[in-house]
Amino acid sequence: MNVIFIAGTDTGVGKTIVTGLLGRYLVSRGRRVVTQKWVQTGAGAAPGQDMAVHLKLMGKSAEDFGDSLPLMNPYFFRFAASPHLAARLENKPIDAAKIKRSVKKLSRRFDLCLIEGTGGLLVPFDDGRLLIDIVKELKIPVLVVAKNSLGAINHTLLSIEALKNRGIEILGIVFNNISKCEDKVILRDNKKIIGRLSKQTIIGELPWAKNFGLLYAKFKPLGARIISRLREVRGKSGDTITLVQNRL
Ligand SMILES: Nc1ncnc2c1ncn2[C@@H]1O[C@H](COP(=O)(O)OP(=O)(O)OP(=O)(O)O)[C@@H](O)[C@H]1O
Ligand SMILES: [Mg+2]
Repeated sequence: MNVIFIAGTDTGVGKTIVTGLLGRYLVSRGRRVVTQKWVQTGAGAAPGQDMAVHLKLMGKSAEDFGDSLPLMNPYFFRFAASPHLAARLENKPIDAAKIKRSVKKLSRRFDLCLIEGTGGLLVPFDDGRLLIDIVKELKIPVLVVAKNSLGAINHTLLSIEALKNRGIEILGIVFNNISKCEDKVILRDNKKIIGRLSKQTIIGELPWAKNFGLLYAKFKPLGARIISRLREVRGKSGDTITLVQNRL
């Protein structure tokens, strides 16, 4: 499938920003891109909090997606908590089969589907399944967004270990500088040590910036690297070489 899963090393690490920026990069290259958030929590009564940021970054509006819109955010819950708890509090079970159907439908309708995770990879759904289990079942390659800060080494290496243990393809790691107060010595070393220990592709680093235009300018080379990694991974598995050549 023509799908990328954007996983975070934690909640609040920049998954939404990276998903939207990658969407914008692909749109700028003339691709038909859709984004997804399987489970949004802390959503008030309305769907699509993170989706709204994806759309804004891509320069799109909800109307551009027509009847695909409900598939983009299949579940949303009021309480800002792990999906298993937020769903239980509203007595609205999460059906993994519904999520899988939504991915398959969207990936047929668009050139590329970008899925933003909820929290980190080992977040539980209400049936005891973890988010990462669905990613594995759908065989989706994963881009890891790491919050670049003190603590990033442990969080990132654990996320990579969890993906590797399940045989999930890893496109690489994006380091996101979400705070401007961190010690630069730590930030520089994080990339080196995590690259060396994880043996994964370091896609690059996003600076701290509140201005979306500036962030996008810095993101463009990262976007190119992510797509080139996707081609490599797809080429290796041999299943969608033609699709990727034609559509990416
Ligand atoms: N590079 C950056 N520079 C400055 N602010 C950033 C940067 N990246 C993210 N942020 C800000 O940090 C906050 C968290 O980012 P974001 O919402 O993308 O995280 P997330 O991983 O999607 O969180 P969640 O788990 O809630 O989905 C947001 O307010 C966002 O605007
Ligand atoms: Mg988010």
